Amino acid sequence: MELPFAELYKIKMVETIKQSNCEQRKKWLREAHYNVFNLRSEYVFIDLLTDSGTGAMSDKQWSQMMVGDESYAGATSYIKMKETIKELFGFNDFLPTHQGRAAENVLFSVLVKEGDIIPGNSHFDTTKGHIEFRKASAVDCTINQAFDSTLIHPFKGNVDLSKLKKVFDENSPEKIPMVIITVTNNTSGGQPVSMQNLREVSALTHQYGAKLLLDSARFAENAYFIKKREEGYAEKSIKEIVKEMYSYADVMTMSSKKDAIVNMGGFIGFKERELYEKASVYNIMFEGFVTYGGMSGRDMNALCQGLYEATEFDYLDTRIRQVEYLADKLLAYGVPILQPTGGHAIFIDAKKFFPKIPKEEYIAQTLVVELYLEGGIRAVEVGTLLADRDPETRENRYPTLELVRLAIPRRVYTNSHMDYIAAAVCNVFDRRKKIKRGLMILKEAPIMRHFTVELERM
Ligand code: F0G
Repeated sequence: MELPFAELYKIKMVETIKQSNCEQRKKWLREAHYNVFNLRSEYVFIDLLTDSGTGAMSDKQWSQMMVGDESYAGATSYIKMKETIKELFGFNDFLPTHQGRAAENVLFSVLVKEGDIIPGNSHFDTTKGHIEFRKASAVDCTINQAFDSTLIHPFKGNVDLSKLKKVFDENSPEKIPMVIITVTNNTSGGQPVSMQNLREVSALTHQYGAKLLLDSARFAENAYFIKKREEGYAEKSIKEIVKEMYSYADVMTMSSKKDAIVNMGGFIGFKERELYEKASVYNIMFEGFVTYGGMSGRDMNALCQGLYEATEFDYLDTRIRQVEYLADKLLAYGVPILQPTGGHAIFIDAKKFFPKIPKEEYIAQTLVVELYLEGGIRAVEVGTLLADRDPETRENRYPTLELVRLAIPRRVYTNSHMDYIAAAVCNVFDRRKKIKRGLMILKEAPIMRHFTVELERM
């Protein structure tokens, strides 16, 4: 018999999770106003809300926590982080921040001003939020293939060079300080960007005098896909691939809660000393002194160890194969999911799942609600709620794809949990025709409404 694939880790510490029944879940969901961000986590059986800050640290990461240096200035933990970032990404300077959006806030305080245009590949919501908050605009230049959920393309996170060139040609260069490439591209389905695309976008961006920023939350997963899918990279190590990816960038923002496998943390990596110096002023104001900026020494230590582990092929292979394991089960049942499967999550195509529910009734959020009722699974909407309103017209922005993301935390759940998730999704799929109406909004915030929105069933 052929030996099956098995996780390349064993479990040393466990955390109890509780099952609930459908009546309880109905009550809790009503109390949460049909917004799963408002649920108490103890009311959730399997939490797929995010893979951010929810990973399990390794024994080596925990041991690093014990030797953190909590000195205000010049801590050994800071020096370790500086050396790690230099070794992995090739950047000489960095600023620690408490998480990814804080890195955006600090960096954009230097780079983005009113009226600017920031092209990229489907900017993440906090990134877009920080751009729009500064009265600048984010222009999505992702390749069209990314919006066809069943089309198989190895690098659906890629930037369309002709779209990008058009943005450069139609605007004066001083309005475009940078281009942002998100690796992997979370918003369009955890899809990777190819090395060739990074190289070409970098060349074009520099030709027009702008900087290339890599939004790096899932950089290691992106490198894994390059190794697996791009010609010429099969024999290269993940660390070599990462080094090349960053040779094309000028600056990086990192949410360490993903591919550094820590619960909290972030940083900005810089190639240019001048930009680092300008950003340092804002880091001190918003985050903390430049050698800790919002992070404890112990957390910086665990982060460095996490970066080394996340750039090991075996770790990535275990992780991404678990996501594929779940995807294969859903595909075998006919559930419409985004293909090929992304790195950190499965994205269900909610418009195909519920073709009868009108777009005004928040199709993807309706599926989020049903998954919770069915099995206590907490997923997240990547659809009209997340897309928010147009800042000018205040009309709903209806994205091409209405997605439900099942984000898989790193090293947390076993394949039995994947089996359970698959069964719950398939049960909702079986009764999908009976669900004809969606939800309506009762209350919402002016920006990033999805976190706090209150809804009611139609
Ligand atoms: N960039 C990307 C691509 C992200 O996915 C996130 C966070 C951020 C930046 C912001 O980082 O949360 O540390 O402030 N994504 C989380 C998610 C929240 O669930 O995908 P942060």
